[in-house]
Amino acid sequence: MMQMDAIPTTRAEALEADSRDPLSAARTAFDLSEGVIYLDGNSLGPPTRLSLTALERTARQEWRIGLVRSWNDAGWIDLAANAGAKIAGLIGVDPGETVVCDSVTVNLHKLAIAMARRSESGPVIVEADEFPTDQYVAKSVADLLNTEFVRVESGAGGRALAQRGGVLVKSVVNYRTAAVADLERDEEAAHQGGGSIVWDLSHATGAVKINLKAAGARAAAGCTYKFLNAGPGAPAFLFVDASISVGLTSPIPGWMGHAAPFEFDAEYRPADGVRRFACGTPPILSLASLDAALSAFQGVAVEDLERKVRNLGDLCLARAETLGLQTVSPPVGSRRGGHVSLCHDDAYAVVQSLIARGVIGDFRAPNLIRFGFSPLFVRRQDVWDAMDALAAVLASAEWDSPRYRQRAFVT
Ligand SMILES: Cc1ncc(COP(=O)(O)O)c(C=O)c1O
Repeated sequence: MMQMDAIPTTRAEALEADSRDPLSAARTAFDLSEGVIYLDGNSLGPPTRLSLTALERTARQEWRIGLVRSWNDAGWIDLAANAGAKIAGLIGVDPGETVVCDSVTVNLHKLAIAMARRSESGPVIVEADEFPTDQYVAKSVADLLNTEFVRVESGAGGRALAQRGGVLVKSVVNYRTAAVADLERDEEAAHQGGGSIVWDLSHATGAVKINLKAAGARAAAGCTYKFLNAGPGAPAFLFVDASISVGLTSPIPGWMGHAAPFEFDAEYRPADGVRRFACGTPPILSLASLDAALSAFQGVAVEDLERKVRNLGDLCLARAETLGLQTVSPPVGSRRGGHVSLCHDDAYAVVQSLIARGVIGDFRAPNLIRFGFSPLFVRRQDVWDAMDALAAVLASAEWDSPRYRQRAFVT
């Protein structure tokens, strides 16, 4: 049972709790903008100072001067595996069981096909409130393998697996609500039905305590540009349990997943282990940023990450209640990922008016104000001040203006 912190009831208490925060030093790793309270690290994390330096060095020295020699001399060829190894500790797997490559969408697709082929029978299952990409991937994999596609209600994926086997594509932390899945229970169900789960760790990594191996998980993919702060469009990571990886076949057999890429074999021979799921040339600039950003997690206990996001979320929810706002997120005191979603009929306009005041959150259709509490740099005082801003915007109806209703493409 995780020890929980008291919820601050005044700004002074919030400041006091911040002064005792074991993660407070990590904030200095970030190059944060003055005058902004950034509550969108669950969508795009801000840059660490080390990432900005690494990007500059990689571009100006390793690329401009080192040129093609940098694949060997600057260690570019090992970056995907090295960055993956650093993520391993955050998700409870061995360093050799992860690799960084492609996007979450592509990795979920590769893994779902590989795991479905391994299971040999049963449907491809997804829960109805999953992130859209997961739904599209599940349907596409079912179509490609000429098997049944099953969409079940939220939380019913494990039961369906136990009954019918097959493959379930499922998030550990739901992108809207921040509800946390019960990995052990769902993995148990998968074993019972002879099926498997491809976990989507996008909203979980760097925010909640995940112990994939202990839960019996065998395949997962996750994102690096949210709580891991690698930068816009940075590549995803992928995990496969070492005990099954040799039996798995990637549906996209690229040369970077070959056992010996520079032998230029006409026939594909997969690399040992998880590297067989790498496809093409790694994106070195993004990888350099990711590798550097992960330094901010060095020496950080994952328990402390989760304990802090829960306290920040509890604080937000406690104050939202005084404003009469409903939430779709697990209530105060429950296990929750690193964000909270509050309901408002004009959520888009409210979010825009908050951004105009320097409080950056995001909107998720149709009616959610979503605040992300990235544990390495968000403080209790930030949540307090953001909720003050929300109270002011609502009290004055400042949000009720045509300029805040004008929808941009990215929300
Ligand atoms: C839960 C979840 N899964 C998948 C994705 C898609 O990731 P990518 O754009 O890297 O394919 C996202 C993106 O935000 C996400 O939140």
